[in-house]
Amino acid sequence: MSAPIQPHGGTLINRVVEGGEREQLLNRAAGLRQLRINTWAISDLDLIGVGAFSPLSGFMVEEDYRSVVERMRLADGTVWSIPITLGVQEEEAAALDLGQEVALVGEHDGIVYGIIKVESVYKVDQNHEAVQVFKTDELAHPGVQKLFTKPSTYIGGPIQVLNRPKPEKFEDFYFDPAETRRIFAEKGWRTVVGFQTRNPVHRAHEYIQKSAMEIVDALFLNPLVGETKSDDISADVRMKSYLVLLKNYYPADRVFLGVFPAAMRYAGPREAIFHAMVRKNYGCSHFIVGRDHAGVGDYYGTYEAQEIFSNFTAEELGITPLFFEHSFFCTKCGNMASSKTCPHPATDHMHLSGTKVRALLRDGQCPPPQFTRPEVAEVLIEGMKEPEYQV
Ligand code: ADX
Repeated sequence: MSAPIQPHGGTLINRVVEGGEREQLLNRAAGLRQLRINTWAISDLDLIGVGAFSPLSGFMVEEDYRSVVERMRLADGTVWSIPITLGVQEEEAAALDLGQEVALVGEHDGIVYGIIKVESVYKVDQNHEAVQVFKTDELAHPGVQKLFTKPSTYIGGPIQVLNRPKPEKFEDFYFDPAETRRIFAEKGWRTVVGFQTRNPVHRAHEYIQKSAMEIVDALFLNPLVGETKSDDISADVRMKSYLVLLKNYYPADRVFLGVFPAAMRYAGPREAIFHAMVRKNYGCSHFIVGRDHAGVGDYYGTYEAQEIFSNFTAEELGITPLFFEHSFFCTKCGNMASSKTCPHPATDHMHLSGTKVRALLRDGQCPPPQFTRPEVAEVLIEGMKEPEYQV
């Protein structure tokens, strides 16, 4: 029997305070200086709190931030590819002392989500951060655009979570890393492959998931449901599509569906590393990286998100990435395939762009079954009737 997968950095962080201590801290927070934080920061705070971002125990201090930006490692050398930072207005930062505790309050609801102990206040060059992390500083890139909406002064230090953000829907599919770890162990799964997605599961996704399932005990379907760009299909519609797909096409005792309530960064290769480390914290032994993982537009090469893994040793990663070639339905083979398994020319392969699929769905037409399962297409067509997609 193999040992359970170690969390990244060795310890699953837990910064969620409960019971009497929480009451005390909430009282204390009432007297602290307050910082208003947006949905994205609330989601980061919560994910740090529950250990999804282990070994992070707070927003990054300057030393870790600079090290992550320059060399994809925390200051102590641990692999980490995406800055997890808290931006504050310069005037607010100027009023803070090192060592001071600050209450982090939701900008829309006034809820005290947590407390940060300020250990570091630093000014950054966001253009440099963008080029390092996203490989571009073009505003057309959704991740870069988001970065530039953040003030360029960051504060770092350990956090404590006092209130958790409440899911609006699909509450039953929210699991903290400690829970997924326990569930996987109870089910007797020693090897679990994690699958990140921000899309409905089409046949290509299904094909790579099932190829992976042939060699591991189970699949953790872990769709990202935090902030995405506006033309991505909403988490609500996607969740309905996952449920209908799993019900009809997956063995119930070998799949576990749980959401990943993080924001999408669209940082391609760097985000692939980040996604893998986080899934390791949820208890996965393997992680799928297909074509243009977490990519957007033409910013990254098709397999760059796979190549980046070669910068690190297997021990440092502690989770095994499973790389998949671009997959498609081949009309000659009569099944799903990739260039690794299919000898036929591209003219025999079915290719549909995301834009084309969205157009079909908006018109109430099912994409071909070789592209999307009909049950999934039905859910998507229904979802596309929502006003937000009628553009
Ligand atoms: S992502 O931004 O969350 O990565 P998406 O939901 O499209 O986007 O992809 C989920 C995973 O499936 C990623 O690992 C991606 O590389 C992979 N993938 C998507 N489409 C294909 C395809 N046609 N062939 C191989 N891998 C794919």
